[in-house]
Amino acid sequence: MEKKEIRFSYQRYASLDELSDDDRSLFNQSIEASSSAYAPYSRFAVGAAVLLENGEVIKGSNQENIAYPSGLCAERVALFAAASAYPNVSIKTLAITAHPISTDQNTEVSPCGACRQVMLEYERILNHDIRIITGAPKGPISIIENARSLLPMAFFDAGLGKDIG
Ligand code: THU
Repeated sequence: MEKKEIRFSYQRYASLDELSDDDRSLFNQSIEASSSAYAPYSRFAVGAAVLLENGEVIKGSNQENIAYPSGLCAERVALFAAASAYPNVSIKTLAITAHPISTDQNTEVSPCGACRQVMLEYERILNHDIRIITGAPKGPISIIENARSLLPMAFFDAGLGKDIG
């Protein structure tokens, strides 16, 4: 038997003022994106903004459905839109934020497991770390340097045809 340990470190910022101008701008675009959330069931609006290597920013928000599992998280709406519009263009950064609808509660959000799996695959196939900026609209905010840190021991190609190693 061998004991293994997985660790990662991330940056924690108390407020938006501490972010670089570029990161603050992207984070603010994720706040803007949350205004288009369609979330009548959870009443929880999430916004995501994806910065691509070519400088484009693609935004997304959570889209729910009366058949609950048919809905999709903001992160995947943005990532799939980015990959559809610009296949093969690396994703540099993904900013995410959320707030309950009709309250000014300043809540933090952290991406769900399914979104982490999707981030991880784009990180691998495009061979570029995806930085993740996530937090409450008024802070605190966390910056994680890559998607793989957020999904240790992830599912990977087990003979499914495509080696994304
Ligand atoms: N949601 C996201 O859009 N992203 C997350 O990271 C967590 C959850 C959405 C899904 C659903 O529309 C609502 O938030 C409540 O779970």
